[in-house]
Amino acid sequence: KRLVVLVSGSGTNLQALLDAIAKTGAEAYGAEIVAVGADREGIEGLARAERAGLPTFVCRVKDHESRDEWDAALTEAVSAYEPDLVVSAGFMKIVGKEFLARFGGRFVNTHPALLPSFPGAHGVRDALAYGAKVTGCTVHFVDDGVDTGPIIAQGVVEVRDEDDESALHERIKEVERRLLVEVVGRIARNGYRIEGRKVVIL
Ligand code: GRF
Repeated sequence: KRLVVLVSGSGTNLQALLDAIAKTGAEAYGAEIVAVGADREGIEGLARAERAGLPTFVCRVKDHESRDEWDAALTEAVSAYEPDLVVSAGFMKIVGKEFLARFGGRFVNTHPALLPSFPGAHGVRDALAYGAKVTGCTVHFVDDGVDTGPIIAQGVVEVRDEDDESALHERIKEVERRLLVEVVGRIARNGYRIEGRKVVIL
């Protein structure tokens, strides 16, 4: 299976996928990353892709007349690599209708909270502020909402009294990277069915 990974930041989830595929071999893992895309320049996630010798592309909202034109451009940029699966690993933009029409049902996102709790761009901060005792991460298919698509897998992380946002996020990311690597490999190797809100991995 061909994967395109979308990033906006440090790309440690991308790195976890790269390392797993390099270690296991694309054949045995069931997938290879064919390109990495971002919504901004100069991020570590793109540097990681370049170090791995992968093609990269950047699709910035401000380079387009409208959000819909950006969405169309992103759809075109991703389509050029003919992915079977698109993985949002810290990609901080909400995709639009055209992207979902093209990749809906095969577009996976990882979120650093236990959805439906704490959706949105500050899931770690929100869980901490709320006083949650456990939080975690969620790997889910992307639908037309924000962090609302069918859940594939979740991992639980305890919140410690001394946690600040970055300490908690780092601990979540340790679980998240493992969960993403495991889930992407399984859905790539075995296939899956989405039945309403339920995801069944074959
Ligand atoms: C991840 O925790 C992801 O869930 C969140 O931002 C973080 C991205 O980390 N949206 P990285 O860029 O993969 O290191």
